[in-house]
Amino acid sequence: MAATFEFTRRLMAVSDRDVDRLREHFLDPAEAFDAETLGEHTLFPLEMTWFYGEPVWHDLAPEKQLMLNRLSFCQSYLSTAVAEVATNVLNLQAALGTIIDDDPEVSLYMAREVVEETMHIEAFLCIIKKVLAYYELSLDQLRATNVSLRMARQYVALHTALGWLRGNQHYYYFTRFSLNVNQKTVERCTINEPAIHPTVRTILKNHAIDEARHMQMSRGTGLVALERMRTPITRTLACLGYAHFAANNYIGRNGRTSKLRRETRTQTLALCGVPYAQAAEACDQWCDRVHQPVDPPLVRAGRDYYRRCNHRYIDDLQSPAWLKRHMKRILDKGYADVAAPLGDGSVGPIEFDDLTRAA
Ligand SMILES: [Fe+2]
Ligand SMILES: [Fe+2]
Repeated sequence: MAATFEFTRRLMAVSDRDVDRLREHFLDPAEAFDAETLGEHTLFPLEMTWFYGEPVWHDLAPEKQLMLNRLSFCQSYLSTAVAEVATNVLNLQAALGTIIDDDPEVSLYMAREVVEETMHIEAFLCIIKKVLAYYELSLDQLRATNVSLRMARQYVALHTALGWLRGNQHYYYFTRFSLNVNQKTVERCTINEPAIHPTVRTILKNHAIDEARHMQMSRGTGLVALERMRTPITRTLACLGYAHFAANNYIGRNGRTSKLRRETRTQTLALCGVPYAQAAEACDQWCDRVHQPVDPPLVRAGRDYYRRCNHRYIDDLQSPAWLKRHMKRILDKGYADVAAPLGDGSVGPIEFDDLTRAA
């Protein structure tokens, strides 16, 4: 039986239940958020804070450590917002093709995700701007330090070109799953962070619920997209492309952390008052695992979770066994630190509870 997008009808029915309350779930709490209530609250998992546990971290005063934690949140969610704009562009391209040539109901669900993402983006930017203002920083300043944002433009350009050449967005949908899992892992750890600000937790919980559905879309569509690729060569190229892409998406630091990401982290540390040259050196030492060869337990667990989710996705693909083994090897190169278990029992597998919509 030919693979179909039938499952999107179920996803649409779930979305229909919540769509009228989007503002209430996102923008209302974001607008009500008052940065003066930050107190001692974190905004990001402590152990996932950039440079956590490094000598430069210990040299920072406690209030600067907290600032770095909050700026790690701002950078992470600015990147998320930009990635959501990028996926909106590609979703609408996919919806255009689908409404002309395929199932209009599926195209409506693709467009529905755009509606949801637009609300997420607005809420994130609202919170980020307030946190920055608390530190007398502007969104322009944050954007200037986040040089890795331009990768989103490259992602859209690549998939637009591929989509135009191939006449569909199968390659885009095939890669989206790894973006979702990566974002989910960090977000769920943030929600579970004990000292997180309650308003931010509420928004992130609501976001995680929407994104769990977007991830089902990515997974389901990815499997169908691969089956619909006509030749074994296109399928093999798609699989190899996915494995490299997934290996380059990461939490914390990876096999070879790219220049753009190092620059973003360095400049973020500099915003906390560390001189640029010292921040750059600290960043190289952190990325190259000079002082902490092994990640803090939560980071390690997150990386392990991301790798496992990707392995399961690969297992479910309609691909030859040799190709799946090869994909896993490519992925594991970026995740060598969790591919080989430490064996000391220090880190258990991460488990996330079922989420319910925060009131
Ligand atoms: Fe989102
Ligand atoms: Fe999403």
